[in-house]
Amino acid sequence: MAIRITTCTNAEAAAFLPRLAELRIAVFREYPYLYEGNMAYEMEYLHSFLHVRDVVLVVALDGDRVVGVSTGMPLSGQPLLVQQPWVTAGESISDIFYLSESVLQKEYRGQGIGVRFFEERENWARQLGFAHTAFCAVIRPQDDPWRPRDYVPLDAFWHHRGYRRKEGYICQMSWQMVYETEETEKSLQFWSKDLLLDKP
Ligand SMILES: CC(C)(COP(=O)(O)OP(=O)(O)OC[C@H]1O[C@@H](n2cnc3c(N)ncnc32)[C@H](O)[C@@H]1OP(=O)(O)O)[C@@H](O)C(=O)NCCC(=O)NCCS
Repeated sequence: MAIRITTCTNAEAAAFLPRLAELRIAVFREYPYLYEGNMAYEMEYLHSFLHVRDVVLVVALDGDRVVGVSTGMPLSGQPLLVQQPWVTAGESISDIFYLSESVLQKEYRGQGIGVRFFEERENWARQLGFAHTAFCAVIRPQDDPWRPRDYVPLDAFWHHRGYRRKEGYICQMSWQMVYETEETEKSLQFWSKDLLLDKP
């Protein structure tokens, strides 16, 4: 069956949040996030999607079943610790649309759904007048013993979508990894794209 992609915001998005939590727990358990899922954390995190203006959820459906979700919101709606590197660099926060996450069930990857996730969120940000989109990705050590042999980094995928590393733009987030006994702080590298230079 063909995959259907639908884009929605705040009120309509609410129905998809429990499924987004499930997908986040399942997909982010994989390398490189190794997230030890926690429903209490998920509910607190997902709460912002109901209250921040101009959020977007891009949902991939196989029949009635949600198989992937991608999200975004204005950077101004994110916690200060996420905004921090941009504030420190003197950037205008109000120009930046933050791409929060993309989580797609494994068996649906490599069919172009991830590309659509980027296109839909960028179109949304353009319509709202944002100049840039940005996201951050966890930094893992080069010689990471947890890295699976067959792991393919997403750097090339992001490059092909027009994203570049923002050197020195690093934020900190805390979560518990599968081999940890409590939450610890992780560093995440920002990537961004100039939407004005990249018109579809
Ligand atoms: C990130 C993620 C959503 C990407 O999803 P995906 O659907 O596998 O990605 P796509 O199939 O759209 O793109 C992958 C490549 O396959 C190509 N491709 C393969 N089949 C295709 C098809 N039928 N149509 C279009 N493109 C296709 C794409 O062009 C792309 O190649 P490129 O980068 O050289 O252009 C997915 O890997 C995922 O959920 N990963 C785990 C979670 C994660 O790390 N998320 C990112 C941090 S939040």
